[in-house]
Amino acid sequence: MMLKDKVAVIYGAGGAIGGAVARAFAREGAKLFLTGRLRAPVEAVAEDIVSAGGSAEAAEVDALDEQALDRHLRSVIDKASRVDISFNAVGIPNRTILGVPLVELDVEQFSLPITTYTTSYFLTARLAARHMIPNRSGVIMTVTALHSRTGIPLVGGYGPAMAAKEALTRDLSAELAPQGIRVVGLRPQGMPETRTIKEAFEPRAKASGMTWEQWQEFLASRTHTRRLMTLEEMANMAVFMASDQASGMTGTTVNLTMGSLDD
Ligand SMILES: NC(=O)c1ccc[n+]([C@@H]2O[C@H](COP(=O)([O-])OP(=O)(O)OC[C@H]3O[C@@H](n4cnc5c(N)ncnc54)[C@H](OP(=O)(O)O)[C@@H]3O)[C@@H](O)[C@H]2O)c1
Repeated sequence: MMLKDKVAVIYGAGGAIGGAVARAFAREGAKLFLTGRLRAPVEAVAEDIVSAGGSAEAAEVDALDEQALDRHLRSVIDKASRVDISFNAVGIPNRTILGVPLVELDVEQFSLPITTYTTSYFLTARLAARHMIPNRSGVIMTVTALHSRTGIPLVGGYGPAMAAKEALTRDLSAELAPQGIRVVGLRPQGMPETRTIKEAFEPRAKASGMTWEQWQEFLASRTHTRRLMTLEEMANMAVFMASDQASGMTGTTVNLTMGSLDD
């Protein structure tokens, strides 16, 4: 087991990526503390894990609320005595941020993803680091998208938000790696099993006239494998990156775009 007895906190654990990462971490022996904006979806993931013999607790925590985050992580430390892995998988609905040309976009809609994604990642990473520094050990992780590195139309502030998160990953690592804490991101290609990717497709469909199937084929045609990534493949990489096997990886975002984005 690659994560045996590691204590992991996941933010946005009721979502597609958070839930898949939680299940994969549990399979590898981690003790999970799962959080999300609403309790029910997080509870469902925790119940799945526990019924499969794993260890998971669910809590309702807004990943933009500094005090709620602090209270929750203190309760984790009280129960498990430490935190080894912090994974921010928070995502806001694409329909609220995509689909409007930049020249027509109002500043609130432009700023929403930038503020939300960076603030949530900053708050959860800073808090985790404060508890990890005394142990000189820990891994801080998050997820971005290829919009961080390539120009894509009709995505508003989403690209700048993803680029900012990747910059924060590098900067956190520059400060924390000397203290034994690794900071790594994952940048997956779109995973068609998730509602997120369908929501991202909708504004594009209107503009391009493509069907959902044609759009998946278009994305897949840009990968070297000519297919899109599965949640399981992404989660397996998250396990490896969180494990001590990846002790040489920090200050970077793993390119999981299957060749559609050059390094
Ligand atoms: N899915 C993909 O193919 C893909 C590929 C590359 C990158 N990404 C990126 O990865 C991230 C996660 O994607 P996903 O597909 O897992 O999205 P998702 O299924 O929508 O999950 C996001 C989760 O974050 C939660 N959340 C939102 N605001 C929160 C807050 N303030 N506090 C706590 N939890 C909050 C959501 O809860 P509610 O539902 O209650 O709001 C939801 O459970 C996004 O940034 C997405 O753009 C996704």
